[in-house]
Parts: sequence; C-alpha cells; structure tokens
Amino acid sequence: MNRCLFDVIVVGAGAAGLMCALRAGQRGRRVLVLEHAEKVGKKILISGGGRCNFTNADSRPEAFLSANPHFCKSALARYTHHDFIALVDKHRIAWHEKTLGQLFCDGSARQIVAMLLSECSAGGVDIRVLHRIGSIERSDRFSVRTDKGDFEASSVVLATGGLSIPKMGATGFTHDVARRFGLAIAEMRPALVPLTVDVPGLSGVSLDVMARCGRATFREAMLFTHRGLSGPAILQISSYWREGQEISIDLLPGIDAAALLKERKRVRPKAELRTILAELMPQRFAQHLAFVGAIGEHRDKELEAVAERLKDWRLVPTGTEGYAKAEVTLGGVDTAELASRTLEARKVPGLYVIGEAVDVTGWLGGYNFQWAWSSGWAAGETV
Ligand code: FDA
Repeated sequence: MNRCLFDVIVVGAGAAGLMCALRAGQRGRRVLVLEHAEKVGKKILISGGGRCNFTNADSRPEAFLSANPHFCKSALARYTHHDFIALVDKHRIAWHEKTLGQLFCDGSARQIVAMLLSECSAGGVDIRVLHRIGSIERSDRFSVRTDKGDFEASSVVLATGGLSIPKMGATGFTHDVARRFGLAIAEMRPALVPLTVDVPGLSGVSLDVMARCGRATFREAMLFTHRGLSGPAILQISSYWREGQEISIDLLPGIDAAALLKERKRVRPKAELRTILAELMPQRFAQHLAFVGAIGEHRDKELEAVAERLKDWRLVPTGTEGYAKAEVTLGGVDTAELASRTLEARKVPGLYVIGEAVDVTGWLGGYNFQWAWSSGWAAGETV
C-alpha cells in the first residue's frame, strides 16, 4: 500500500483539529487531517442553533471544569477569545453578543467552518474525509493505518472530541488510542445535559431561576420538559451534578420573597396567594405549587415558609438524558499526562491530545469552542 509522509497527522476535523491544522500548516509544516465523517466540522454546523456561539467575551479559566483547574490557563492565555474574534473579523463574519458574553454569528455557523477551511487551505493542509482509521503505531515515526491507505508523520494530534451525540459520529477513538499508549483517562460522563425529574404537567414552562448544585450557582432560564428539567441554568449545573445529589432552585432570584409577600398581603389582602404568585412566575407553575386561600388569610410565618419554598425549591434528579442529549463530555484524557503549554503527551513524545477529548470542560456559552481553539492553537504552534 501507498505510504504518504507528513510532518503532522491530525485525527478529527472538528473545531480543535482544524485550528491545530491551520496553525501548523501556516508554520510551514506538512499537515494531513483525517476525518471519518463525510464532512468536516459537523458539531460547529449545528452549534448555537446553527449560529455557532463561537466564543465567550469573558473566557476565564474559572469557567472550565477539570481535575486540575490550572491546566487550561496556559493554552487559554496563548490564544485568547480576542485572537479568535480577530480571525472572525478578518474574514468579515458579522457577529453579535447575545447575553452573558456569548458571541454568535449573525448569519450562519457555516461561515466559521468556511473560515477554518480557508485558513487551512492557506497553510496547504491536506484534509481527507471518509477515512476510517484502523490503528496508530509508533516506532521512529507514527504510522496511521486507514481503509484508504497508510500515512506516516513525526507527530500525531488526537482531536476526535467527546462522546456526546453518538448519532452524529462521536466516538471514543482518542480515549482508546490514549489508553493504548498508556495515558490515564479521567472518568467521563455527560455534561451540559438535561436532568430527568418527575414533575408532571409542566412541559414547556420556562422561568428565570438561580439553580444551585453544591457550590455551583447559575442564574439563567430553566425549562420544564417531558422528561424533567432543561434550559441553560440546568445544563450549567448538570456539569457539577452527581447521581443522588440534591439540587436547589431559587424561583424568584434577586427578590426578597418574604418581604414581597408580606407587602402584597398588606396592600391586597383579598387576592388569592396563587394569583399573586402568577404575577411573579408563569401561571402554570404557580398553580402547580398548589397554595390555596387569600393571601390575607396567611399568617406572616406561613408566608415566610412559602417564601422559603420559592427561594429554595429542592429536588433530587433521577438521572440525566445521557450522551444522546449532552452538549459535551466531562472528563477525558487526564491532564497530568499532558504538557499544558503544548498538549503533548509527557510519556509519548510527538503525540498530542486537544479539544474536548481532554479533561477540560467549559460552561455553556462559547467556552467549549474557546478551549478547542486555544488547545488546537497551542499544539499547532509546537507540532
Ligand atoms: P468535535 O466534536 O468538534 O470534532 C471531532 C471531530 O472528530 C469530528 O469531526 C468527528 O467526526 C471526528 N471523529 C470522531 N471520531 C473519529 C474517528 N474515529 N476517526 C476520525 N475522525 C473522528 N460549544 C460552544 O462553545 N458553543 C456552542 O454554541 C456549542 N453548541 C453545541 C451544540 C451541540 C448540539 C453540541 C453537541 C455541542 C455544542 N458545543 C458548543 C460543544 C462543542 O461543539 C464542542 O465542545 C467542540 O466541538 C469540541 O471540539 P473538538 O474539536 O474537540 O471536537
């Protein structure tokens, strides 16, 4: 079979892989990208509802979960959200800030993929789709066997992402290869994922809440679904949630509920308590709370108890909706195995792991793409 020689082989043409390839290519390296799907950047295309929340204007290390919270700092500092915004601007892609620093394309996520491909092309990167990879072996160089031929390179970059959305082609390829090379894997589980809870009859109801799980708190929207809870506030705390753990929801964030109910009692004593609540939250949810009687009939102590329930609604999710619905995978290749500056495996010179496959997971809001860009760039600078 035909053996082709490259400096760098990147496995996986997603966000991190394409960024790494374009940087290495523009540095003059001969780069091959191998992708098993029929097209590149599929997750970019569906991200942000088709508009790609490509970064966050506040991409700080505290917004990332990892067994080593310091690991992400070096790559994030070397290629920041400002650098990515400059690239987007260079390609004249119009964008806007939606909320909480989240930056989206005005047009389409397709523009981000086109931008990455155009930069790859400027670096002479060879991108091949529909290549099924059999094995990766190392002697003096790396040999990568595929169903379309074998390739050799002095460096291999593993960039096949996480396990979420298997029907889109997500695989544990990077983790399997890493294990074979003796690298440890931090326990993986679905994250940024809806939680399953038995709260019947509320599907479609959405409200602004402060959701809490342990010490993590997020103020954003919460949505009731057929299977439980979703919406940004829930997706955010899902990354911190462990089986059996209780979560707490403040249904009236930023409001002193006890003071407000007592004030309404004084001003409108004949109003039904549930009518008052329906003025503060969606009516269907206020009905669900099943408080009865006029507010004036409730003693202040009872109103304080109602307020406490509204400020600290506790429930124990039965589980998550799993990788089929998770936006990302928590855990992955153990950061202790990698150099934080270059993402190179400490015990396997020439082997790099980047993007979501590494045990670095961002909050919802463009942080995961920023990690893909930053880690891809860091490796692309070195390979
Ligand atoms: P990514 O998944 O992008 O790329 C991996 C590539 O490897 C894919 O092209 C895949 O086909 C390929 N591959 C897999 N196995 C292979 C194998 N065995 N051989 C060869 N190739 C293989 N984040 C964010 O910041 N803002 C957002 O708006 C969103 N929105 C969003 C929506 C949805 C529905 C999902 C599922 C996820 C998001 N994300 C997001 C998360 C974001 O998409 C994710 O974190 C990055 O794409 C990760 O980049 P990677 O390059 O690491 O993996």
